[in-house]
Amino acid sequence: MTDSLTGLIRELPKTELHLHIEGTFDPELMFEIAQRNDVSLPYESVDEIRAAYEFENLQSFLDLYYAGATVLQTQRDFHDLTWSYLQKMKTENVRHVEIFFDPQTHTDRGVPFSEVVEGIYGALNDAHGRLGVSSGLILCFLRHLSEEAAFDTLEQALPYKDWITAVGLDSAEAGHPPSKFENVFKACRDEGFLAVAHAGEEGPAEYIRQALDLLKVRRIDHGVRCTEDPQLVRRLKQEQIPLTVCPLSNVKLRIFDQLTDHNLKKLLDTGLCVMINSDDPAYFGGYLQQNYIETAEALSLNKNDIVQLARNSFIASFLTSEDKQQHLADIDRIAARH
Ligand code: ADE
Ligand code: ZN
Repeated sequence: MTDSLTGLIRELPKTELHLHIEGTFDPELMFEIAQRNDVSLPYESVDEIRAAYEFENLQSFLDLYYAGATVLQTQRDFHDLTWSYLQKMKTENVRHVEIFFDPQTHTDRGVPFSEVVEGIYGALNDAHGRLGVSSGLILCFLRHLSEEAAFDTLEQALPYKDWITAVGLDSAEAGHPPSKFENVFKACRDEGFLAVAHAGEEGPAEYIRQALDLLKVRRIDHGVRCTEDPQLVRRLKQEQIPLTVCPLSNVKLRIFDQLTDHNLKKLLDTGLCVMINSDDPAYFGGYLQQNYIETAEALSLNKNDIVQLARNSFIASFLTSEDKQQHLADIDRIAARH
């Protein structure tokens, strides 16, 4: 790839819309916090942790991801994790992030909801003031757990309603269709939360339809298996429903064998509102900019493709239309210089 395209990727204002904060737990920070909390890790070194990051599928990743998250115990831990991610994003010209957190991963082991949300939100607030990075917070329900457990989590979230933009659905997809969570999503929407959901990552295209029709989501997280249903693809295009695509994640979790096989470019050429995200960058080998660079290289993306992906990231965000217009104007100005 040319230096000019790499420079463009670095310079363009970007957003990240599909990012699990627990998935930014770099081994260095994991060791540091484990020591601070007197938790022992089943690894001798940072290199040994990294070497363990070879996944067969989504579940084999989730097993490690949930194990890593047990190190997080206090408000300070959640703050440090979030702050560390936001500082990285500042260096990558990321202007806005809408991040997921998985409260049940923590409350189920006795960490109070308040410790989790106050730590994360405090860092997001600091980042807005000190780094100029704006944000939204998305509470994800774990779909391998029951709808009743999700209702219980919603109850705990209500005192923090003003801090939480949307609800989402993540964890093991196969066998846990969106229909399982229809009632709790209705209750969330009635409380004023926007909705998103992971669908069409390991699960079938039918789960994307359910997420749209039953959960009334504004975006689909992943959604790459939509191509198995041409009529659905036409609908996603017509309604411009964003797909928050995560290329390096999809290769690490074996949704695609290699990055050159990824369907992002086809989806973009078809006119779908797709953009690039990192999902769980500490586990999948790269933060947002690295996802852009490796994908551009593997799929021979041109300047227009890259600009469109960055534009889509703002268009698909939950920013106000005034904020979107400002960021889009900045993108156009920078693109014109390249
Ligand atoms: N939780 C963290 N990363 C995830 C992914 N890629 N799919 C589903 N749940 C997740
Ligand atoms: Zn995800």
